[in-house]
Amino acid sequence: MTETKSETTNKNSNTDKTAPIGVFDSGVGGLTVVREIMRQLPNEKIIYFGDTARVPYGNKSRETVVRFSEQIMRFLKTFRVKTIVVACNTASAYAMDALERDCDVPIIGVVKPGARMAAEVTRNGRIGVIATEATIGSQIYTKYIQELNRNVTIYGKACPLFVPLVEEGLLEDPVTDEIARRYLTELIDIDIDTLILGCTHYPLIRSTLGKIAGPDVTLVNPAYETARELRRMLTGMDLLGEDAPKLGSNQYQFYVSDMAEKFVTFANSIIKYGILSAKTIRIEQY
Ligand code: DGL
Repeated sequence: MTETKSETTNKNSNTDKTAPIGVFDSGVGGLTVVREIMRQLPNEKIIYFGDTARVPYGNKSRETVVRFSEQIMRFLKTFRVKTIVVACNTASAYAMDALERDCDVPIIGVVKPGARMAAEVTRNGRIGVIATEATIGSQIYTKYIQELNRNVTIYGKACPLFVPLVEEGLLEDPVTDEIARRYLTELIDIDIDTLILGCTHYPLIRSTLGKIAGPDVTLVNPAYETARELRRMLTGMDLLGEDAPKLGSNQYQFYVSDMAEKFVTFANSIIKYGILSAKTIRIEQY
């Protein structure tokens, strides 16, 4: 089974609506998904894991990304999560099959919701996808979009410099502008009308990307679409949190595999809910 057929499992061993949602990424990028979940599902508790010791995943092999993702799934399961969100395009592209096989709670990745929205909004059938080398190489967006609509052409472009630029905080900077122009020119020249931000870091440079792509190109943010899909899924399974978690209940907990302080500084710069702390854990023990 590939992600293109089923990105959301139906298994469900945890019917406790008050249980947390597990979310993971290779590092800080998944915080763009967390931010959307906080906005769209304010009653949910979140356990976030960022693999800051082993980032980036985007230039690693499938086997390695699957091994890392399975360790993280086992770690998140120790919190009795009711669902897991794979808030990393690379892990969604490579590891969904393995995770689905081994997990007894529903899992949702970021690729399918983004692909579905792009297939819906394109008018001229020319969709650009920007992402890591791994995600582009996997052709996962192409496969899924073409399952929905055969008449659409997808143009993938790996943009490996965007992740370090975002992590350096160069969100609005002439250097980022210049690099974005170089990456996007070939997509603009082939007249795409839709651009998928296929890496969880990219929503943070959305305004630069929008400026360069121009007003005729619709940007699709899979982080936003994933939170909407999560809401639909939890509602459908009668698992949506109904009441705001009690004060002092640690609604949002953050774990990383290295550099917790740096993570907290970055997280607080993009999420305004106040991420007071993050704990470092030895993920390879799981
Ligand atoms: N979070 C990753 C993704 O969405 C990008 C960073 C990395 O390469 O690990 O693909």
